[in-house]
Amino acid sequence: MRTMRIWIYLAVAVLIPSFAAAQEVAAPKLVVPIPDAERGRFLFASKGCVVCHAINGVGGSAGPALDAAADSSTVDPVDFAARMWRGAAAMAFLQSMEFGYQIALTGNEISDLAAFIASPERQSTFTESDIPEVMRGWTIDEPFSALEEEWDPWGIDSALSDLDVGRIGNMTRGYMLAERWCTTCHVVDAEGEGGDVGPAFASVAAREGSSEEAIRDWLSVPHPNMPEFLNLNDNDFSDLAAYIMSLKR
Ligand code: HEC
Ligand code: HEC
Repeated sequence: MRTMRIWIYLAVAVLIPSFAAAQEVAAPKLVVPIPDAERGRFLFASKGCVVCHAINGVGGSAGPALDAAADSSTVDPVDFAARMWRGAAAMAFLQSMEFGYQIALTGNEISDLAAFIASPERQSTFTESDIPEVMRGWTIDEPFSALEEEWDPWGIDSALSDLDVGRIGNMTRGYMLAERWCTTCHVVDAEGEGGDVGPAFASVAAREGSSEEAIRDWLSVPHPNMPEFLNLNDNDFSDLAAYIMSLKR
Protein backbone atom coordinates (compact mmCIF):
# COMPACT_ATOMS: atom_id res chain seq x y z
CA MET A 1 0.00 0.00 0.00
CA ARG A 2 2.71 2.34 1.00
CA THR A 3 4.91 1.73 -2.01
CA MET A 4 1.83 2.20 -4.16
CA ARG A 5 1.42 5.67 -2.69
CA ILE A 6 5.02 6.49 -3.31
CA TRP A 7 4.59 5.52 -6.92
CA ILE A 8 1.61 7.78 -7.24
CA TYR A 9 3.51 10.69 -5.68
CA LEU A 10 6.38 10.02 -8.00
CA ALA A 11 4.15 9.89 -11.06
CA VAL A 12 2.47 13.15 -10.09
CA ALA A 13 5.78 14.81 -9.36
CA VAL A 14 7.10 13.85 -12.78
CA LEU A 15 3.94 14.40 -14.77
CA ILE A 16 2.83 17.79 -13.52
CA PRO A 17 5.96 19.71 -14.44
CA SER A 18 6.25 18.01 -17.82
CA PHE A 19 2.59 18.72 -18.53
CA ALA A 20 3.09 22.35 -17.60
CA ALA A 21 6.17 22.56 -19.79
CA ALA A 22 4.26 21.11 -22.72
CA GLN A 23 1.55 23.72 -22.25
CA GLU A 24 4.06 26.52 -22.11
CA VAL A 25 5.39 25.50 -25.48
CA ALA A 26 1.97 25.08 -27.06
CA ALA A 27 0.35 28.39 -26.08
CA PRO A 28 1.57 31.44 -28.03
CA LYS A 29 1.86 34.65 -26.08
CA LEU A 30 -1.18 36.89 -26.31
CA VAL A 31 -0.37 40.51 -27.12
CA VAL A 32 -3.13 43.08 -26.87
CA PRO A 33 -2.28 46.63 -27.91
CA ILE A 34 -3.28 49.23 -25.34
CA PRO A 35 -6.09 51.32 -26.83
CA ASP A 36 -5.56 55.07 -26.82
CA ALA A 37 -8.78 56.98 -27.54
CA GLU A 38 -7.02 60.32 -28.07
CA ARG A 39 -4.79 58.84 -30.76
CA GLY A 40 -7.90 57.17 -32.19
CA ARG A 41 -9.55 60.54 -32.47
CA PHE A 42 -6.56 61.87 -34.40
CA LEU A 43 -6.51 58.80 -36.67
CA PHE A 44 -10.24 58.95 -37.33
CA ALA A 45 -9.70 62.35 -38.95
CA SER A 46 -6.22 61.98 -40.44
CA LYS A 47 -6.77 58.51 -41.95
CA GLY A 48 -9.90 59.83 -43.65
CA CYS A 49 -12.56 57.74 -41.88
CA VAL A 50 -14.34 61.05 -41.34
CA VAL A 51 -14.81 61.43 -45.09
CA CYS A 52 -17.45 58.68 -44.98
CA HIS A 53 -18.44 58.34 -41.31
CA ALA A 54 -19.82 60.98 -38.98
CA ILE A 55 -19.23 61.26 -35.26
CA ASN A 56 -20.94 63.90 -33.22
CA GLY A 57 -22.57 65.11 -36.45
CA VAL A 58 -19.16 65.80 -38.04
CA GLY A 59 -18.25 63.85 -41.17
CA GLY A 60 -19.74 62.14 -44.21
CA SER A 61 -22.66 59.77 -44.46
CA ALA A 62 -21.53 57.25 -47.08
CA GLY A 63 -21.16 54.78 -44.20
CA PRO A 64 -23.11 54.57 -40.95
CA ALA A 65 -22.46 57.12 -38.19
CA LEU A 66 -20.08 55.76 -35.59
CA ASP A 67 -21.29 57.49 -32.45
CA ALA A 68 -20.59 55.59 -29.25
CA ALA A 69 -23.45 54.30 -27.19
CA ALA A 70 -23.91 56.66 -24.26
CA ASP A 71 -23.40 53.81 -21.82
CA SER A 72 -20.42 52.14 -23.49
CA SER A 73 -17.71 51.33 -21.02
CA THR A 74 -15.62 48.62 -22.67
CA VAL A 75 -13.28 48.57 -25.67
CA ASP A 76 -12.89 45.39 -27.69
CA PRO A 77 -10.45 46.02 -30.57
CA VAL A 78 -10.89 42.54 -32.00
CA ASP A 79 -14.64 42.90 -32.09
CA PHE A 80 -14.21 46.31 -33.68
CA ALA A 81 -11.98 44.83 -36.38
CA ALA A 82 -14.66 42.19 -37.00
CA ARG A 83 -17.24 44.96 -37.35
CA MET A 84 -15.06 46.76 -39.91
CA TRP A 85 -14.49 43.49 -41.73
CA ARG A 86 -18.24 43.23 -42.34
CA GLY A 87 -18.10 46.54 -44.21
CA ALA A 88 -14.75 45.71 -45.80
CA ALA A 89 -15.81 45.10 -49.40
CA ALA A 90 -17.76 48.35 -49.64
CA MET A 91 -15.07 50.29 -47.82
CA ALA A 92 -12.16 49.03 -49.88
CA PHE A 93 -14.04 49.87 -53.04
CA LEU A 94 -15.16 53.36 -51.97
CA GLN A 95 -11.75 54.18 -50.53
CA SER A 96 -9.89 53.32 -53.68
CA MET A 97 -12.42 55.30 -55.68
CA GLU A 98 -12.19 58.35 -53.41
CA PHE A 99 -8.56 58.30 -52.33
CA GLY A 100 -6.98 56.12 -54.99
CA TYR A 101 -5.83 53.67 -52.30
CA GLN A 102 -7.16 51.54 -49.49
CA ILE A 103 -6.49 52.93 -46.00
CA ALA A 104 -3.76 50.87 -44.30
CA LEU A 105 -4.05 50.30 -40.56
CA THR A 106 -1.74 48.66 -38.03
CA GLY A 107 -3.06 46.63 -35.12
CA ASN A 108 -2.28 49.49 -32.77
CA GLU A 109 -4.19 51.93 -34.92
CA ILE A 110 -7.25 49.67 -35.08
CA SER A 111 -7.14 49.42 -31.33
CA ASP A 112 -6.88 53.22 -30.93
CA LEU A 113 -9.77 53.74 -33.34
CA ALA A 114 -11.83 51.18 -31.41
CA ALA A 115 -11.20 53.17 -28.24
CA PHE A 116 -12.31 56.43 -29.83
CA ILE A 117 -15.42 54.82 -31.36
CA ALA A 118 -16.31 53.48 -27.89
CA SER A 119 -15.70 56.71 -25.98
CA PRO A 120 -18.63 59.16 -25.66
CA GLU A 121 -16.35 61.59 -23.77
CA ARG A 122 -13.68 61.85 -26.48
CA GLN A 123 -16.33 61.99 -29.16
CA SER A 124 -18.23 64.86 -27.53
CA THR A 125 -15.41 67.27 -28.32
CA PHE A 126 -14.93 66.13 -31.92
CA THR A 127 -15.53 69.09 -34.27
CA GLU A 128 -14.89 70.26 -37.85
CA SER A 129 -11.56 71.69 -36.70
CA ASP A 130 -10.30 68.14 -36.06
CA ILE A 131 -10.49 67.43 -39.79
CA PRO A 132 -7.22 68.19 -41.60
CA GLU A 133 -7.66 71.20 -43.86
CA VAL A 134 -7.11 69.28 -47.09
CA MET A 135 -10.02 67.01 -46.26
CA ARG A 136 -12.59 69.61 -45.33
CA GLY A 137 -15.43 69.78 -47.81
CA TRP A 138 -14.39 66.40 -49.10
CA THR A 139 -16.94 64.35 -47.17
CA ILE A 140 -19.19 61.98 -49.08
CA ASP A 141 -22.77 62.68 -48.19
CA GLU A 142 -24.45 60.07 -50.31
CA PRO A 143 -25.25 56.89 -48.41
CA PHE A 144 -23.58 53.83 -49.78
CA SER A 145 -26.93 52.21 -50.58
CA ALA A 146 -27.51 54.96 -53.15
CA LEU A 147 -24.11 54.36 -54.74
CA GLU A 148 -24.61 50.61 -54.74
CA GLU A 149 -26.47 50.74 -58.07
CA GLU A 150 -23.24 51.45 -59.90
CA TRP A 151 -21.20 49.21 -57.63
CA ASP A 152 -19.20 46.89 -59.83
CA PRO A 153 -15.77 46.93 -58.20
CA TRP A 154 -14.05 44.32 -60.29
CA GLY A 155 -16.06 44.70 -63.48
CA ILE A 156 -17.65 41.37 -62.62
CA ASP A 157 -21.20 42.41 -63.44
CA SER A 158 -20.38 43.51 -66.93
CA ALA A 159 -18.02 40.65 -67.73
CA LEU A 160 -20.16 37.87 -66.34
CA SER A 161 -23.64 39.28 -66.30
CA ASP A 162 -25.13 35.90 -67.06
CA LEU A 163 -23.50 34.27 -64.05
CA ASP A 164 -24.62 34.66 -60.48
CA VAL A 165 -22.26 35.03 -57.53
CA GLY A 166 -22.61 31.35 -56.59
CA ARG A 167 -21.07 30.44 -59.90
CA ILE A 168 -18.22 32.87 -59.48
CA GLY A 169 -17.56 31.12 -56.19
CA ASN A 170 -17.46 27.77 -57.98
CA MET A 171 -15.06 29.05 -60.60
CA THR A 172 -12.79 30.61 -58.00
CA ARG A 173 -12.69 27.38 -56.08
CA GLY A 174 -12.09 25.47 -59.30
CA TYR A 175 -9.16 27.72 -60.08
CA MET A 176 -7.67 27.11 -56.65
CA LEU A 177 -8.03 23.37 -57.08
CA ALA A 178 -6.47 23.55 -60.54
CA GLU A 179 -3.52 25.56 -59.25
CA ARG A 180 -3.00 22.98 -56.56
CA TRP A 181 -3.46 19.74 -58.48
CA CYS A 182 -3.19 20.30 -62.21
CA THR A 183 -0.35 22.74 -62.99
CA THR A 184 2.36 20.08 -63.16
CA CYS A 185 0.82 18.83 -66.41
CA HIS A 186 -1.49 21.58 -67.69
CA VAL A 187 -1.34 25.31 -68.30
CA VAL A 188 -4.28 26.12 -66.07
CA ASP A 189 -4.86 29.83 -66.63
CA ALA A 190 -5.44 31.80 -69.80
CA GLU A 191 -1.79 32.49 -70.65
CA GLY A 192 0.20 31.49 -67.59
CA GLU A 193 2.76 28.85 -66.87
CA GLY A 194 2.28 25.16 -66.37
CA GLY A 195 3.21 21.78 -67.71
CA ASP A 196 2.62 20.64 -71.28
CA VAL A 197 2.01 16.98 -70.57
CA GLY A 198 -1.71 17.52 -71.09
CA PRO A 199 -3.57 20.14 -73.16
CA ALA A 200 -3.82 23.73 -71.86
CA PHE A 201 -7.17 24.25 -70.13
CA ALA A 202 -7.95 27.24 -72.34
CA SER A 203 -7.64 25.05 -75.41
CA VAL A 204 -9.85 22.37 -73.85
CA ALA A 205 -12.48 25.08 -73.23
CA ALA A 206 -12.15 26.42 -76.78
CA ARG A 207 -12.78 23.06 -78.42
CA GLU A 208 -15.93 22.69 -80.44
CA GLY A 209 -18.59 21.00 -78.35
CA SER A 210 -16.81 21.45 -75.02
CA SER A 211 -19.14 21.92 -72.08
CA GLU A 212 -19.03 21.95 -68.33
CA GLU A 213 -21.01 18.73 -68.16
CA ALA A 214 -18.70 16.94 -70.59
CA ILE A 215 -15.58 18.01 -68.69
CA ARG A 216 -17.07 17.08 -65.35
CA ASP A 217 -18.09 13.65 -66.62
CA TRP A 218 -14.67 13.16 -68.18
CA LEU A 219 -12.97 14.00 -64.90
CA SER A 220 -15.09 11.65 -62.86
CA VAL A 221 -13.89 8.52 -64.64
CA PRO A 222 -10.27 7.29 -64.73
CA HIS A 223 -8.09 7.85 -67.79
CA PRO A 224 -4.95 5.91 -68.59
CA ASN A 225 -2.75 8.96 -69.20
CA MET A 226 -3.86 11.04 -66.28
CA PRO A 227 -3.64 10.39 -62.54
CA GLU A 228 -6.90 9.51 -60.89
CA PHE A 229 -7.63 12.14 -58.25
CA LEU A 230 -9.09 10.02 -55.50
CA ASN A 231 -8.87 12.99 -53.15
CA LEU A 232 -11.29 15.03 -55.25
CA ASN A 233 -15.06 14.52 -55.26
CA ASP A 234 -17.92 15.29 -57.66
CA ASN A 235 -18.28 18.74 -56.20
CA ASP A 236 -14.61 19.45 -56.94
CA PHE A 237 -14.97 18.15 -60.48
CA SER A 238 -17.94 20.47 -61.05
CA ASP A 239 -15.96 23.44 -59.78
CA LEU A 240 -12.95 22.49 -61.92
CA ALA A 241 -15.20 22.14 -64.95
CA ALA A 242 -16.83 25.51 -64.21
CA TYR A 243 -13.39 27.07 -64.01
CA ILE A 244 -12.09 25.43 -67.18
CA MET A 245 -15.12 26.56 -69.20
CA SER A 246 -14.74 30.10 -67.86
CA LEU A 247 -11.55 30.28 -69.96
CA LYS A 248 -13.55 30.05 -73.16
CA ARG A 249 -13.14 33.23 -75.20
C1 HEC B 1 -14.68 55.98 -48.66
C2 HEC B 1 -15.62 55.75 -47.63
C3 HEC B 1 -15.21 55.12 -46.32
C4 HEC B 1 -14.08 55.36 -45.58
C5 HEC B 1 -12.96 56.31 -45.90
C6 HEC B 1 -14.19 54.55 -44.39
N1 HEC B 1 -15.35 53.83 -44.40
FE1 HEC B 1 -16.00 52.59 -42.92
N2 HEC B 1 -17.62 52.12 -44.10
C7 HEC B 1 -17.93 52.69 -45.29
C8 HEC B 1 -19.17 52.12 -45.78
C9 HEC B 1 -19.87 52.47 -47.07
C10 HEC B 1 -19.58 51.18 -44.80
C11 HEC B 1 -20.83 50.35 -44.80
C12 HEC B 1 -20.66 49.15 -45.66
C13 HEC B 1 -21.94 48.38 -45.80
O1 HEC B 1 -23.00 48.95 -45.54
O2 HEC B 1 -21.81 47.23 -46.17
C14 HEC B 1 -18.56 51.21 -43.76
C15 HEC B 1 -18.60 50.41 -42.63
C16 HEC B 1 -17.78 50.58 -41.52
C17 HEC B 1 -17.96 49.93 -40.25
C18 HEC B 1 -19.05 48.94 -39.91
C19 HEC B 1 -20.20 49.76 -39.46
C20 HEC B 1 -21.30 48.94 -38.85
O3 HEC B 1 -22.22 48.62 -39.58
O4 HEC B 1 -21.18 48.65 -37.68
C21 HEC B 1 -16.99 50.39 -39.41
C22 HEC B 1 -16.78 50.01 -37.96
C23 HEC B 1 -16.17 51.31 -40.18
N3 HEC B 1 -16.69 51.40 -41.44
C24 HEC B 1 -15.07 51.97 -39.69
C25 HEC B 1 -14.24 52.76 -40.46
C26 HEC B 1 -12.98 53.32 -40.00
C27 HEC B 1 -12.41 53.15 -38.61
C28 HEC B 1 -12.46 54.01 -41.05
C29 HEC B 1 -11.12 54.72 -41.12
C30 HEC B 1 -9.95 53.93 -40.87
C31 HEC B 1 -13.38 53.91 -42.16
N4 HEC B 1 -14.44 53.14 -41.77
C32 HEC B 1 -13.21 54.51 -43.39
C33 HEC B 1 -17.22 53.67 -45.97
C34 HEC B 1 -16.00 54.15 -45.57
C1 HEC C 1 0.47 13.85 -64.38
C2 HEC C 1 -0.07 14.68 -65.40
C3 HEC C 1 -1.46 15.22 -65.29
C4 HEC C 1 -2.05 15.83 -64.22
C5 HEC C 1 -1.45 16.11 -62.85
C6 HEC C 1 -3.35 16.25 -64.67
N1 HEC C 1 -3.55 15.89 -65.95
FE1 HEC C 1 -5.19 16.28 -67.06
N2 HEC C 1 -4.37 15.36 -68.63
C7 HEC C 1 -3.12 14.77 -68.64
C8 HEC C 1 -2.89 14.14 -69.94
C9 HEC C 1 -1.66 13.37 -70.36
C10 HEC C 1 -4.05 14.40 -70.70
C11 HEC C 1 -4.37 13.92 -72.08
C12 HEC C 1 -5.07 12.60 -71.84
C13 HEC C 1 -5.79 12.04 -72.98
O1 HEC C 1 -6.12 12.77 -73.89
O2 HEC C 1 -6.10 10.84 -72.85
C14 HEC C 1 -4.94 15.18 -69.86
C15 HEC C 1 -6.17 15.63 -70.27
C16 HEC C 1 -7.01 16.39 -69.51
C17 HEC C 1 -8.24 16.99 -69.96
C18 HEC C 1 -8.75 16.94 -71.41
C19 HEC C 1 -9.74 15.89 -71.63
C20 HEC C 1 -10.13 15.94 -73.08
O3 HEC C 1 -11.30 16.08 -73.33
O4 HEC C 1 -9.24 15.82 -73.92
C21 HEC C 1 -8.81 17.64 -68.92
C22 HEC C 1 -10.13 18.39 -68.92
C23 HEC C 1 -7.91 17.47 -67.82
N3 HEC C 1 -6.83 16.71 -68.21
C24 HEC C 1 -8.14 18.00 -66.58
C25 HEC C 1 -7.24 17.87 -65.53
C26 HEC C 1 -7.50 18.41 -64.22
C27 HEC C 1 -8.76 19.18 -63.81
C28 HEC C 1 -6.41 18.12 -63.47
C29 HEC C 1 -6.18 18.47 -62.04
C30 HEC C 1 -7.20 18.07 -61.09
C31 HEC C 1 -5.48 17.39 -64.30
N4 HEC C 1 -6.03 17.26 -65.53
C32 HEC C 1 -4.25 16.93 -63.86
C33 HEC C 1 -2.22 14.74 -67.63
C34 HEC C 1 -2.41 15.25 -66.38
